[in-house]
Amino acid sequence: MDGLKPRIVEAIHRQTQATVTILSSLLAVHDELGYMPKEAVEEVAAFKGATINDVWAVASFYPNFRFDPPCQHHVEVCWGASCHLVGAMPVIEQVLAAIGLEGEGDTPDGLVSFRLNTCLGACAQAPVMSIDHHLMGRLSPESARAKIDGLLG
Ligand code: FES
Repeated sequence: MDGLKPRIVEAIHRQTQATVTILSSLLAVHDELGYMPKEAVEEVAAFKGATINDVWAVASFYPNFRFDPPCQHHVEVCWGASCHLVGAMPVIEQVLAAIGLEGEGDTPDGLVSFRLNTCLGACAQAPVMSIDHHLMGRLSPESARAKIDGLLG
């Protein structure tokens, strides 16, 4: 687990809230690493005096955990109501075409994770997407495609 273990242990022990649970510990690690390696499950089990099965039960129940390392780039396109009304779907189609996916997921080369979002919090600038948590708005399908092409070099 080389460089991961110190980060996992630190994330678990850094929690300052009054009640530290298996879930809060898993969330702390996930926030730190962006995913949940199996070593994190082992560390949380040891920390909480629980079995690995107990920790897996919590981890697998929580839908927002990912168990593989994140891709190099994270792309989200909003398909909430405001964005939908002003052309989110053609933007989504162009982004998917550019990265070669048919829906949410990771590209096989590990370059791009694509997710849909129900509101990126910038409705006034719809349609909106974010690349590596950087928001961009008033997109056209063409401008969205150009941004993805630029990202992929
Ligand atoms: S609905 Fe798209 S940013 Fe709010």
